[in-house]
Amino acid sequence: MLNNHTSKQIIGTKSEVLKGKKIVLCITGSVAAMECPIIARELMRAGAEVYAVMSPAATRLVSPDLMQWATGNPVVTQLTGKVEHISLAGDHPDTASLVLVAPATANTISKIACGIDDTPPTTVVSSAIGAGIPIVIVPAMHESMFRHPIVLENINRLKSIGIEFVGPRFEEGKAKIAHIDTIVAYVIDVLTRPKDMKGLKVLITAGPTREYIDAVRFISNPSSGKMGVSLAIGCVQRGAEVTLVFGPGSVEPPPLTKVINVESTQDMLEAVVSSLKKEHYDIMISSAAVSDYTPDKKIDAKTPSGKEEFIVRLVPLPKIINAVREVAPDIFLVGFKAEYNKSKEELISCALNKIKKANLDLIVANDVSKENAGFAADSNEVYVIDKDGEVTHIPLSPKRVIASRILDIVVKKYNQKLLKAQSISHSEPTIK
Ligand SMILES: Cc1cc2nc3c(=O)[nH]c(=O)nc-3n(C[C@H](O)[C@H](O)[C@H](O)COP(=O)(O)O)c2cc1C
Repeated sequence: MLNNHTSKQIIGTKSEVLKGKKIVLCITGSVAAMECPIIARELMRAGAEVYAVMSPAATRLVSPDLMQWATGNPVVTQLTGKVEHISLAGDHPDTASLVLVAPATANTISKIACGIDDTPPTTVVSSAIGAGIPIVIVPAMHESMFRHPIVLENINRLKSIGIEFVGPRFEEGKAKIAHIDTIVAYVIDVLTRPKDMKGLKVLITAGPTREYIDAVRFISNPSSGKMGVSLAIGCVQRGAEVTLVFGPGSVEPPPLTKVINVESTQDMLEAVVSSLKKEHYDIMISSAAVSDYTPDKKIDAKTPSGKEEFIVRLVPLPKIINAVREVAPDIFLVGFKAEYNKSKEELISCALNKIKKANLDLIVANDVSKENAGFAADSNEVYVIDKDGEVTHIPLSPKRVIASRILDIVVKKYNQKLLKAQSISHSEPTIK
């Protein structure tokens, strides 16, 4: 009877992108639970089957009958001899494609982070973690609860094991549940993401560097590290193993990456060279905004204030990219070129010069004078240019989206380079 539930008629009416996917929607005791019937039905309209699992606190806010109507499937409100957590999210072929905890209370987030499972949602998530099922958590609570340092620590702990978070949105003193469209788009992204970097090792540099003038003053730039961190997250999500050599940026380093913190350009150069000498890397993305100059001598004390003048002489620093080519001549090398207030033609021409000079495979060029683009902004607009001068324009978009588009091109060009190298080695006569 239930399988012919009339609600199932909406499955796939908007798209078939989630066709064949089984999504377990874990609902916890936040008022945002009132959004759940719509979240479930939007996922169904995109082609998914949805199974709701509710905590006792959630059932006091939204009726399980409503969720059964919305999904057309039985709702789990308590665990029984049927071991619902295993049939929904265990380690077997018919298990969930994804577990979505939306809304997620501070209580449930913290319990999951501590490995506690004493409600149907927490037990489903525990099993899903062990079974390697993708998990997306959508927090919702008052902002004061979200600012609790232990709740924030627990979120970071969960991120560090690969659990992904959507939102919250900060409005009216609340850390509100993300918009329904955002949640659905995120779920679609997770379930359709290519795993085309599996087996590849990627070295990424990100953030600014600091060149000290004296013990307390330094020369730097406003880079936050967001672009490089977004690239690192993108590589991990596509299956790559990532090492991030990270200057003092203002964003958290990404989960599931090996992070080497550095301060000066020289530190960054040494960390890159020693990483490349120690292990084989397939791809290097040099997205850090490194200082090109450093004071010729560093004063090992605080220069007193009140001096009439304080002259600093700057000398050029070695280029990290040149050192990379020496240690790893065959690595697929992606550079970045930031320019200020240049026309599109000038920007592309500067980038092409750098590709040739530094023997890069690909370069990403942007004009940091543009509004909402470049240093510290959440968005960017870039041109990706390859060795043959092929230019791809990526219009102003969030840095995560820019990263994903850049990686599409990196993967395509990397595979082309590999194929070319293989066909050359096969056509070479063997010398006996
Ligand atoms: C009307 C109401 C709204 C609530 N909204 C939230 C909320 O948005 N976020 C949250 O973390 N807790 C909220 N709480 C508190 C949780 O329901 C409470 O911490 C509960 O123990 C959570 O249990 P659960 O995580 O198992 O669902 C709310 C409580 C009530 C009574």
